[in-house]
Amino acid sequence: MTETNTQIVLAARPTGFPKEADFRLQQVAMPQPADNEILVRTHYLSLDPYMRGRMNESASYAPGVALGQVMVGGTVGEVVASRHANFAVGDIAQVQTGWQAYGVVNGAEARKVDPTLAPISTSLGVLGMPGMTAYFGLLDIGKPQAGETVLVSGAAGAVGSLVGQIAQLKGARAVGVAGSDAKIAYVKDELGFSAAFNYKTTPDYGEALEQLCPDGIDVYFDNVGGDLTDAVFPHLNVGGRVSVCGQISQYNLAEPEMGQRLLWHFIVKRLTMRGFLVFDFAARYGEALTALADWLQAGKLSYREDIVEGLDQAPAAFIGMLNGDNTGKRLVQLA
Ligand SMILES: NC(=O)c1ccc[n+]([C@@H]2O[C@H](COP(=O)([O-])OP(=O)(O)OC[C@H]3O[C@@H](n4cnc5c(N)ncnc54)[C@H](OP(=O)(O)O)[C@@H]3O)[C@@H](O)[C@H]2O)c1
Repeated sequence: MTETNTQIVLAARPTGFPKEADFRLQQVAMPQPADNEILVRTHYLSLDPYMRGRMNESASYAPGVALGQVMVGGTVGEVVASRHANFAVGDIAQVQTGWQAYGVVNGAEARKVDPTLAPISTSLGVLGMPGMTAYFGLLDIGKPQAGETVLVSGAAGAVGSLVGQIAQLKGARAVGVAGSDAKIAYVKDELGFSAAFNYKTTPDYGEALEQLCPDGIDVYFDNVGGDLTDAVFPHLNVGGRVSVCGQISQYNLAEPEMGQRLLWHFIVKRLTMRGFLVFDFAARYGEALTALADWLQAGKLSYREDIVEGLDQAPAAFIGMLNGDNTGKRLVQLA
């Protein structure tokens, strides 16, 4: 094992879209585990939209990363030293060690990953946080019924790609919205969405929704917010549910965007809208993991990983993900 650890720290707080100079790569001494801790060598780092919020000074649901501190993030890797009874050297652990080659955590905060179940990278995607977000956000909040129409924005991404498939597994009709023709082909041809449109080349969202959702929309799973979301409300059916998962169209705005006044739709259509954080469902992660793993093993759920090589590429890969470069789950492979 080397004597040094490589890390990427937050170098500056971005205004608007982040840039590579907002991050800095540095070498530090290898950390050593104390009692009850494990040292994990990162194999994969997950890059997620929430990290943009952590680059801000002001706290949202979690405090921002301090300048000079390692960027936060979910990782999976092999235990290379252990002082925790539940972990032995060689075990695979899913941890929150952030953007670095090695990290130390308390073993109680680590999830042991069974490498025989699926590739270990899936513990950051379909069998990890994005999978659980899709599962609970759709089933607990959207509550799709057979025959209903479920609209999913961010449909080709880590969460959205799973939401549409789970909706179809429940007998609903999934309609997706994503940002390129290749992504539209992917969600329709590979993931089995019933219909989809490219929001970047569609001039009139209302017209597209009218055409692709002729029976209206019963569940809207919102990953993006903004103009697209505003356009959805007139197409929601009576009793419609909106699961507010993410608002990525807003994360990089230097100034807040003005939107429409839409609350009257809630009265006329008796709508329910609920935002959530995946952590709200932490007590039930086991239920979601079992269901997702069963669907995966039965060949009912498909996923794509969009893997970039090398920790030094993480800043560009993160910015690229915010720009829509990725199809499926964006990861960085280190080891
Ligand atoms: N509530 C929770 O607990 C929770 C947990 C996980 C994720 N989330 C949220 O869920 C959403 C999806 O996360 P993910 O991890 O699955 O990421 P992802 O969809 O794999 O990647 C982000 C995608 O966002 C799309 N995007 C970027 N800018 C956009 C814009 N202005 N308008 C519309 N789409 C835009 C891009 O796809 P296109 O090419 O289609 O534009 C990009 O590929 C995010 O909003 C995230 O914050 C919430």
